[in-house]
Amino acid sequence: MIKAAIMGYGTVGSGVYEILDGNAEVVAGNAGQEIEVKYVLDLRDFPDHPHPEKFIKDFSIIENDPEITVVAEVMGGTGAAYEFTKRCLLAGKSVVTSNKALVAKHGAELIAIAKENNLNYEFEASVGGGIPIIRPMVQCLTANNMLAITGILNGTTNYILNRMIREGISFDACLKEAQALGYAEADPTADVEGHDACRKIAILSDLAYGKNVATELVETEGISKITLRDVDYAEQAGCVVKLLGRAVLNEDKTIYAFVAPHFVSKSSPLACVDGVYNAILTTGDMLGDAMFYGQGAGKLATASAVVADMIDCVIHSKNRRRLGWVDDGENIVRPLDSFASRWYVRLTGEDAAAKLSEAFPGAQLLALDGVTGEAACLTGELTTAEMQAKKQALGTVAGSMRLL
Ligand code: HSE
Repeated sequence: MIKAAIMGYGTVGSGVYEILDGNAEVVAGNAGQEIEVKYVLDLRDFPDHPHPEKFIKDFSIIENDPEITVVAEVMGGTGAAYEFTKRCLLAGKSVVTSNKALVAKHGAELIAIAKENNLNYEFEASVGGGIPIIRPMVQCLTANNMLAITGILNGTTNYILNRMIREGISFDACLKEAQALGYAEADPTADVEGHDACRKIAILSDLAYGKNVATELVETEGISKITLRDVDYAEQAGCVVKLLGRAVLNEDKTIYAFVAPHFVSKSSPLACVDGVYNAILTTGDMLGDAMFYGQGAGKLATASAVVADMIDCVIHSKNRRRLGWVDDGENIVRPLDSFASRWYVRLTGEDAAAKLSEAFPGAQLLALDGVTGEAACLTGELTTAEMQAKKQALGTVAGSMRLL
């Protein structure tokens, strides 16, 4: 029997416990032996839990217990989680995690420590919640040059956009719902402003391109400026508004990596990814497109991937999983200035339509029934730098997004 520990008893941690307990038979069958939770580390008390004796507040109990061979770090953050993960690996315990902030920031180092100690550091749940994407990225897709990764990577914002689009509900009300459903981060700014999606596209890029992609270099814009009016124009253009994390490979092996809301054509498979669901569309030079779809946030969906990694660590306790990338200081992220796409632009003012036509010759003008004093258009291809210049010349632009 394997003795395991869970660090953090929040939404995901309690889900991990629930799966290991409720699905004990299937877990044991797949791991080849039972996995028993010996400790749960959390600063809070859980007196009503059926096993309050398992709860501890002192990390060193886990660190110093040689019986513990697998630890699930589901605390979140990059402070204590980083220190405890490192100490677990140095103490001879494999670690699995859903902590995308930690993997994005310190993944290369933690993987290297795991390797030196002949252990595993696995993080399937860090991207796409319950969707299998990390392992496909390092196994099934490796015969390809990854031309592009295009992902709906944040369940909270997709849920919010979906509710805004379908029900016309305000942004604030939708966010409250997502928080109540346990999808949002402790600080939902990370969801809304795109930081969570940024970490996830950075991790996917790390894996796909083998080099460390620093989140600071991934230009990131969230959904807080999107209005119901933008959503209406998208509908008229045959599109839906989606927050996308994207990585695009250049011929010189650099990449564009960014997060931004987009007008996504309804003909794209990403357009029908609704609610808390995530999807990652990978484009390989040999395979072409493959899309990975499923529940991207939530207790059991995320915990399902964490427990699968625990099982994987048990199965591979004597041989390391080949998983990782190097942080050798090389930056492969190219600034977005030269990245070209079509754009949606919205402008207010009685002369908005005329101004848009002048600024973007040949653009397709959009108009909404009964709406005056503003106009919107879909432009031809323009680089980011060209669009910035146009926006500066136009003065205050009410909204703009790339098309996909
Ligand atoms: N807050 C995240 C989301 C949780 O909404 O997608 C899963 O990473």
